[in-house]
Amino acid sequence: MVWWLSWVVVVVTIIGDGGVSRADVVGYDGRSLIIGGQRKILFSGSIHYPRSTPEMWPSLIAKAKEGGLHVIQTYVFWNLHEPRPNQYNFIGRYDLVRFIKEIHAQGLYACLRIGPFIESEWTYGGFPFWLHDVPGIIYRSDNEPFKFYMQNFTTKIVNLMKSEGLYASQGGPIILSQIENEYQNVEAAFKEKGPSYVRWAAEMAVGLQTGVPWVMCKQSDAPDPVINTCNGMKCGETFQGPNSPNKPSMWTENWTSFYEVFGGEPYLRSAEDIAFHTTLFIAKKGCYVNYYMYHGGTNFGRTGASYFKTSYYDQAPLDEYGLIRQPKWGHLRQMHAAIKFCSATLLQGVQTNFSFGQLQEAYVFQEESGGCVAFLLNNDQKNNATVQFRNISFELLPKSISILSDCEHVIFSTATVKTEYNERTATSNQKFDSEDGWEEFKDVIPNFSDTSLKSNSLLEHMNTTKDESDYLWYTSSFQQNSSCSEPVLHIESLGHVAHAIVNNIYFGTAHGSHDAKGFTFEMPILLNNEMNNISILSVMVGLPDSGPFLESRFAGLTKVEIQCSKEGTFNFTNQEWGYQVGMLGEKLQIYNDQNLSNVAWSKTKISTNQPFTWYKTVFDRPKGNDPVALDLSTMGKGEVWINGQSIGRYWVSFQNSKGTSSQTLYHVPRSLLKSSENLLVLLEEVGGNPLRISLDTISINYIHEHSHYDHLYQ
Ligand SMILES: *[C@@H]1O[C@H](CO)[C@@H](O)[C@H](O)[C@H]1NC(C)=O
Ligand SMILES: *[C@@H]1O[C@H](CO)[C@@H](O)[C@H](O)[C@H]1NC(C)=O
Ligand SMILES: *[C@@H]1O[C@H](CO)[C@@H](O)[C@H](O)[C@H]1NC(C)=O
Ligand SMILES: *[C@@H]1O[C@H](CO)[C@@H](O)[C@H](O)[C@H]1NC(C)=O
Ligand SMILES: *[C@@H]1O[C@H](CO)[C@@H](O)[C@H](O)[C@H]1NC(C)=O
Ligand SMILES: *[C@@H]1O[C@H](CO)[C@@H](O)[C@H](O)[C@H]1NC(C)=O
Ligand SMILES: *[C@@H]1O[C@H](CO)[C@@H](O)[C@H](O)[C@H]1NC(C)=O
Ligand SMILES: *[C@@H]1O[C@H](CO)[C@@H](O)[C@H](O)[C@H]1NC(C)=O
Ligand SMILES: *[C@@H]1O[C@H](CO)[C@@H](O)[C@H](O)[C@H]1NC(C)=O
Ligand SMILES: *[C@@H]1O[C@H](CO)[C@@H](O)[C@H](O)[C@H]1NC(C)=O
Ligand SMILES: *[C@@H]1O[C@H](CO)[C@@H](O)[C@H](O)[C@H]1NC(C)=O
Repeated sequence: MVWWLSWVVVVVTIIGDGGVSRADVVGYDGRSLIIGGQRKILFSGSIHYPRSTPEMWPSLIAKAKEGGLHVIQTYVFWNLHEPRPNQYNFIGRYDLVRFIKEIHAQGLYACLRIGPFIESEWTYGGFPFWLHDVPGIIYRSDNEPFKFYMQNFTTKIVNLMKSEGLYASQGGPIILSQIENEYQNVEAAFKEKGPSYVRWAAEMAVGLQTGVPWVMCKQSDAPDPVINTCNGMKCGETFQGPNSPNKPSMWTENWTSFYEVFGGEPYLRSAEDIAFHTTLFIAKKGCYVNYYMYHGGTNFGRTGASYFKTSYYDQAPLDEYGLIRQPKWGHLRQMHAAIKFCSATLLQGVQTNFSFGQLQEAYVFQEESGGCVAFLLNNDQKNNATVQFRNISFELLPKSISILSDCEHVIFSTATVKTEYNERTATSNQKFDSEDGWEEFKDVIPNFSDTSLKSNSLLEHMNTTKDESDYLWYTSSFQQNSSCSEPVLHIESLGHVAHAIVNNIYFGTAHGSHDAKGFTFEMPILLNNEMNNISILSVMVGLPDSGPFLESRFAGLTKVEIQCSKEGTFNFTNQEWGYQVGMLGEKLQIYNDQNLSNVAWSKTKISTNQPFTWYKTVFDRPKGNDPVALDLSTMGKGEVWINGQSIGRYWVSFQNSKGTSSQTLYHVPRSLLKSSENLLVLLEEVGGNPLRISLDTISINYIHEHSHYDHLYQ
């Protein structure tokens, strides 16, 4: 039916009228946010500024706008902005003001989720590690030291936004702010200090007088006037609703996919499923839906939380590289357009609902003036349903919602995908297979006598490194007094990885996982009859980001023993241990061009499969504009730097249950690259083959594969 096609054109041109040119008062009532006197149904998408680059921001925001979004939502990342108490950083990828101004320039609104606890699969949930050493601190509780620093940072950010005129009340784009984050998940752990903290946080935030509403997500008792909002995959089914009839129904995190971890498998959520739940939420008088994430991006450097990959929500409507992912982007765009087309009636009409049977329902919005919008819902997962609505027969596809813009004609069905599918390909641009191109440096394994920090116990990992590095060496030296047959080294650790070296021989490695961070590892070793040196490298893959009492988490070794087959066990747990924080190459910053000569690089035959080895080479920038990624399939585990910037941790050797690596491609932002002589440095921990690394460009191909149900509409 050609009629449908012309409908689309009309609808699409209506997208994106959310201009914010003058100071808008933002209020709300039980139906929706009210901006500049107008009720709104808003679609929002999360894009986190440090997970991409300032050079990518304009195009990400433009694609979000074209996809039918009105709002860009971001967290604020405390540990990037205040790396030391009272020392702030807002430059480059951390330039929050520039990001918000870009949103404004494109005529969209912003939702600023200050937290400042954000979780977000971000290291330490966004807290700067120095908070750990504030005496008497208990995070996210009615605790004076914590409240001091939380208020201090929240005030800093609010003042910064105000000084740049960025709140809607000042003519800027920010229409909402968030304080705390999913606190209800942990509130009970703090007993009576939980509710009093929630009240304090709400009062503190409201007292900052931003002129726009505050929300608390997943917090059903959010105190007035803070709005409680829903996070999840299916808020249309699960949300109990606002805690006051004067508050609107809002969904701050509609998960477009799910986060992914090293050793995990991809999580796929179909465009149809997302559209179904979003439409259901709107049918139930929801007025704000945010897609978490609309663009996930990359956890550069050491910013990912425990065990998280660098690739973040790659399955979102805009993929890790900012490329449009179809049909997700296009299907949601059509849904936004359909709802936008109906929004006057949705906001002004009276809603009624009724059932057609056990699994079929209708939600109808009727205006006195005659305007009418209906949502016909088929909850049957397998079968079509034929329903009679106002004397017209409709065939509803399985698990679908059909939107009738005039209570007669279907303008959108969540299960009918009319967008072409696309597929991403990585094409090798440069190979690094020439021995001549590489130089290597084998990092130094410290022995007990080389370490200055000593203790008669196994120290907690984070408290010792202060997060200056992922790496902590535990070293010991001992005289074997009696014989030990078939010695086995037995190590217990609370996370995340350990490598064992005895008398300069590498005996192996073991690790935990996102779901079971602790692990035990046992391996046969060789001892000699004189002094023996044990050096164990404990490695963390990001700090924890969730749950209560983050300040007192434990990681690193908890037990070290040597078990003999006949003579019993030598217990080293409470022996004297020597410590070194970080690898030597890190301390000497040999990933920087200016610091390369701090060590002697070897140019002879490059070693493969050798632990604790640094590799370096140079490369030219690929021509064109396609995104760039490193294919590290043949490497093990480590970190990569390009021109001195860490693009993240890699962990290819951690395979999932299907025997494949959870991530082999690592995003290299184009803005890091010069036309030639780009420095690539890798630190390999377990052993890999750098000669098989390639530099790839990423592109999109369209596949002509329409939904089976297309003919219904043609
Ligand atoms: C934060 O605390 C410091 C003292 O530690 C103070 O100098 C600064 O003014 C405070 N900032 C805000 C925004 O309250
Ligand atoms: C939330 O997102 C999921 C998946 O992205 C989608 O199926 C669902 O419809 C969305 N719900 C809302 C209310 O947006
Ligand atoms: C109307 O919808 C609500 C939930 O949105 C549900 O609880 C109620 O049972 C529905 N009423 C009918 C008549 O189906
Ligand atoms: C549902 O209806 C469509 C269109 O009438 C038809 O093509 C399809 O086969 C039906 N599906 C099922 C599961 O009955
Ligand atoms: C539906 O059809 C019946 C019988 O033709 C008629 O009595 C009724 O008024 C119609 N209902 C609507 C809503 O048009
Ligand atoms: C952290 O280390 C300091 C010494 O640097 C020690 O006094 C303190 O007890 C340690 N804290 C924890 C939680 O281990
Ligand atoms: C070996 O003997 C020395 C001296 O008695 C003692 O200090 C050391 O702990 C013993 N080593 C082991 C592994 O028992
Ligand atoms: C540690 O001892 C081994 C022999 O066990 C030696 O090869 C290595 O060079 C020593 N490390 C340092 C830093 O001296
Ligand atoms: C142990 O380490 C020390 C200090 O680096 C070194 O001199 C010694 O040779 C090592 N012993 C063994 C058995 O490797
Ligand atoms: C070794 O010492 C630790 C700490 O004292 C203790 O927990 C562990 O049980 C001991 N192991 C054995 C085999 O006695
Ligand atoms: C690395 O080089 C820079 C610039 O020359 C210098 O400031 C810095 O101190 C060097 N770092 C190390 C560890 O040598």
